[in-house]
Amino acid sequence: MHSARTRDGYRTRVVLVQAGEPWRMQSHSGGKLPRWGKVAHSAKTGDSPGSGEVARSAGGGRDIVSEQNGAASGLLAGKTAVVMGVANRWSIAYAIAEAMAAAGAKLAVTYLDDRTKREADELAALSPGSKSYKFDVESDEQLDAFAEDLKQDFPKVDTLVHSIAFAPPDELKNRFLETTREGFKIAQSISVYSLIASAQRVVPLMTDGGSIITMTYLGAERAFPRYNVMGVAKAALEATVRYLAYDLGEQQIRVNAISAGPIKTAAARGISGFSDIQNLLVERAPLKTTFSAKNVAQTAVFLASDASSAITGETLYVDNGYNIMGM
Ligand SMILES: NC(=O)c1ccc[n+]([C@@H]2O[C@H](COP(=O)([O-])OP(=O)(O)OC[C@H]3O[C@@H](n4cnc5c(N)ncnc54)[C@H](O)[C@@H]3O)[C@@H](O)[C@H]2O)c1
Repeated sequence: MHSARTRDGYRTRVVLVQAGEPWRMQSHSGGKLPRWGKVAHSAKTGDSPGSGEVARSAGGGRDIVSEQNGAASGLLAGKTAVVMGVANRWSIAYAIAEAMAAAGAKLAVTYLDDRTKREADELAALSPGSKSYKFDVESDEQLDAFAEDLKQDFPKVDTLVHSIAFAPPDELKNRFLETTREGFKIAQSISVYSLIASAQRVVPLMTDGGSIITMTYLGAERAFPRYNVMGVAKAALEATVRYLAYDLGEQQIRVNAISAGPIKTAAARGISGFSDIQNLLVERAPLKTTFSAKNVAQTAVFLASDASSAITGETLYVDNGYNIMGM
């Protein structure tokens, strides 16, 4: 499926094709709850090229990756980026890691469990000197072990991409009024505190300044049916971005959030009525062009680069302009 790509990603002709819904929720590793944003590598995931909603092939159609990666050429040369939150090839983190490698960065790709090892390793193979690491952001011990390994492998880190969220599925189906204490805690811990916990471990390696990037959604500011506790988590995440930005500014470390429009990923699959949200973007956003994780990835490359050196504490909307509309 990825055979059409070259390592530098600039000359490759690829085509994005929409078809089907390849994701599946899987069970929570620590208990019975399905995990927000995890996908089992079943026959319907990226293991099955025919089922993928993002297929890549040589020749024909619009050369989206080539155009976008070309624009980012060399922007991250000499930089090292930690990219957290790859579950499969449809993850926003996957697109970000690909774009950062194409822009010249070395990667430290992180993933939750062995089901994603293959994807993490294929990303690490895109850029010489890159590595992959497995850990659960809910475990301080695993985070500490990751930090130790990272220190051994890379003398300096320039970018941290946090692309992680989870809420128990029932919290995204029931009325918001029915939010449980446990569901609220889990959503906040995995989707928000994990940014702070990760920054604590990675910032000591950002000895030459740096850029921290997280992923948020418009549901932080506006009520979207069934986004529920995740909207509250995203509001907390955006506040966290501002506090971290203030704290880390003296060290020339910038902290920003990308508010992405709806993209079909495993995490999105957990939201009841997600297709309606996606259709609204297509109908109402000012830009009528294709919208995908690639658009988000290019903004992440910009935020990781020196081109964004005076931007911190911001939420940048990458949603074809949907957020400006009154209706
Ligand atoms: N897809 C969208 O429409 C959309 C829109 C705006 C923002 N976002 C945000 O983008 C980010 C990435 O989501 P995605 O859409 O790429 O889905 P995804 O399911 O591919 O990514 C979510 C990631 O979170 C990871 N994760 C969950 N619990 C974890 C834990 N305990 N430890 C380590 N990792 C854990 C999963 O393994 C997965 O890699 C999330 O913050 C999501 O809220 C997504």
